[in-house]
Amino acid sequence: DTIGKVIKCKAAIAWEAKKPLVLEDIEVEPPKENEVRVKILATAICHTDAYTLGGNDPEGNFPCILGHEGAGIVESVGPNVEEFQPGDHVIPLYIPQCGDCKFCLSPKTNVCSKIRVTQGQGKMPDGTSRFTCKGQSLYHFMGCSTFSEYTVVADISLCKVDPAAAFDKICLLGCGVSTGFGAALNTAKVETDSTCAVFGLGAVGLAVIMGCKAAGAKKIIGVDINESKFELAKLFGATDFVNPSNFDKPIQDILIEMTNGGLDYTFECIGNVKTMRAALEACHKGWGTSVIIGVASAGQEISTRPFQLITGRTWKGTAFGGWKSKESIPELVLKYLDKNLMLDEFISHKLPFTSINEGFELLHVGKSIRTVLEF
Ligand code: APR
Ligand code: ZN
Ligand code: ZN
Repeated sequence: DTIGKVIKCKAAIAWEAKKPLVLEDIEVEPPKENEVRVKILATAICHTDAYTLGGNDPEGNFPCILGHEGAGIVESVGPNVEEFQPGDHVIPLYIPQCGDCKFCLSPKTNVCSKIRVTQGQGKMPDGTSRFTCKGQSLYHFMGCSTFSEYTVVADISLCKVDPAAAFDKICLLGCGVSTGFGAALNTAKVETDSTCAVFGLGAVGLAVIMGCKAAGAKKIIGVDINESKFELAKLFGATDFVNPSNFDKPIQDILIEMTNGGLDYTFECIGNVKTMRAALEACHKGWGTSVIIGVASAGQEISTRPFQLITGRTWKGTAFGGWKSKESIPELVLKYLDKNLMLDEFISHKLPFTSINEGFELLHVGKSIRTVLEF
């Protein structure tokens, strides 16, 4: 019985930027008030983990435990937690849903800001850490820290899901897949018979395609400089493909020609400010909407001529696909169980947790859609 005790377990530590993670024995303190300790059973690697490890994240704190696409089982709960019990199947949420901040009270957004400050500082809401290694305190990451056998999260940063769903699949709903799927359904609100273009066919772009298809789009153009991505995109519902490298003209001009004036909806799933501009300018005059999903490096700025907006194009962005996290992610798990949402197809690689650095390598060379690590 581990309840109320410090747990010793394995975790992948980011001791400093630009260095491989190191598997270490760590201590995980019991959860405090309104906190939950979770045994992580599967986690995937996302670009944000690599971005922070790369040292370019202004909010990066070291040493820390990265990871935010995970799933597991509640081991124990702290005082004042009524919603969870040991044994519950759960997914950590890097955007929480507290239910009472001004963002949670607005139907227009999902960016709960209740613990934004401490989360950005790599701390629990009370300003402290639950992790130590070799006598040193470790920072948390994105309120999740799933690269550990055990983690502690705020109860507002966790949702209970149907135990019938496999951890190694539903961990993907912790970030990339939910983000792309929601960008199409919640942020763009894609309509039946509309035309869409998706820039970047990684996990996020594929999830956008899945959302556009679910919304009944009639044309879904996949845009990528890596043509090996086209086949999988077709499986998710893309109907047409363009490789910008094959043209001398800007890609927005090509897309406008292909669609008799431009697209109803475009999505940037790369994180490049140039393709963000191209995506906006590929929108149809009068009504086209472009959604930014990819995260550009710190300090980057977007630009276009104001005339693009004056003539009726709309530029939007989304975080975690606009989902109000605690109430929506369990519904996406049910959708998966009902076979109305694909997850297995995103998994290009599976590795034991101990091979986590190999997973980062696959991400860096662009070989993986998602690598899932099992504990
Ligand atoms: N034009 C078209 N496609 C491009 C370009 C470009 N200039 N540059 C890169 N791509 C393609 C890559 O070939 C790749 O298929 O974009 C795709 C990006 O996919 P992944 O690297 O697998 O990224 P993903 O996990 O889908 O995340 C997308 O969202 O999380 C954010 O900022 C993060 O960059 C990441 C983005
Ligand atoms: Zn809130
Ligand atoms: Zn992510």
